[in-house]
Amino acid sequence: MHTLAVETSCDETALCIYSDQEGPIGDVILSQAKVHFPYGGVVPELSAREHTRNLLPMLDKLLKDTGFDLKRIDFISFTLTPGLILSLVVGASFAKALSYLLKKPLVPVHHLEGHIYSVFLEKPVDYPFIALIVSGGHTDLYLVEGFGKYTFLGGTLDDAVGESYDKTAKLMGLGYPGGPIIDNLAKEGKPIYKLPRPMIEEETLDMSFSGLKTAVRKIVGSGEYSKEDLAASFQRAVMDILEKKSLLAMEKAGVKRLVVVGGVSANSELRERFKELSHKKGFELYIPHIKLSTDNAQMIAYAGMERFKRGIRAPEDINPEPNIPLEAFGKLWS
Ligand code: KG4
Ligand code: ZN
Repeated sequence: MHTLAVETSCDETALCIYSDQEGPIGDVILSQAKVHFPYGGVVPELSAREHTRNLLPMLDKLLKDTGFDLKRIDFISFTLTPGLILSLVVGASFAKALSYLLKKPLVPVHHLEGHIYSVFLEKPVDYPFIALIVSGGHTDLYLVEGFGKYTFLGGTLDDAVGESYDKTAKLMGLGYPGGPIIDNLAKEGKPIYKLPRPMIEEETLDMSFSGLKTAVRKIVGSGEYSKEDLAASFQRAVMDILEKKSLLAMEKAGVKRLVVVGGVSANSELRERFKELSHKKGFELYIPHIKLSTDNAQMIAYAGMERFKRGIRAPEDINPEPNIPLEAFGKLWS
């Protein structure tokens, strides 16, 4: 069985042809980072325009590179939610048009479900597990008991971790996306600045990151500071919070299996720390390959395949939504 997956929820345009027998057959991703760089964050209207500009040439390239005949596609998977609504609409319209022309079904996928299942592209994980999703739009903890069976445990009450990286980088005048820039700078610095770790000691799985950004703003405003040391201090505080809340989630749920996904899971300190932690505390840890941590269409194809096999099809009048909660989405059409 083959699917063509379409991902346009934010600032990456991505397409993938995926087979349930052979895995990914071809995959293209176009980052819009350069377009948004001058603004220090994603500009929704520019993002939608870039998707519109690039989808067709990218499909053409994908088909030429793989030599794959589009008529062999069994269904189209696409990201329905969550994301920037204009960007989602572009991807959904593209997927709908293909579905109509090829007379093949359309399968809606939740972007966060895609992130969770990015680890399955390398190796299936046994259930139940805790999923820590850390991306530009989300910082959430879920108990995952099966495909589509997601229980929300807690998450950020304000900024998402990736957003906090991006805003901090903007404050420091470093450009966009802030995550990889701060990750690299932090390697050259020491965590010498005292930054807050809001809610870290509380027995809740909720988190808060906006205070951290405010503290960074004060240091930047004071004039003289070391960019490297501030990056290292910011990153250390973020990782302390994520580590503490992940351990608490596993303890509360009585689960010793952790999946860490989303753009921030590409972070080098996160990867090292969580690996050490899993050895020290004795839990199984799964983090996708860096290429699959950030947005991609392979993860949408994998989740789409699972949905298709469960008989889930999008109705003809389906329309993207900026934010359907994952827990509710898991129960739709089932
Ligand atoms: O999952 P993703 O590609 O898109 C969303 O679904 O939001 O995540 C993007 C986020 C951005 O905020 C970016 O700064 C962050 O992931 N990111 C990182 C790293 N690479 C990307 N954050 C920290 N360290 C990194 N190496
Ligand atoms: Zn994402």
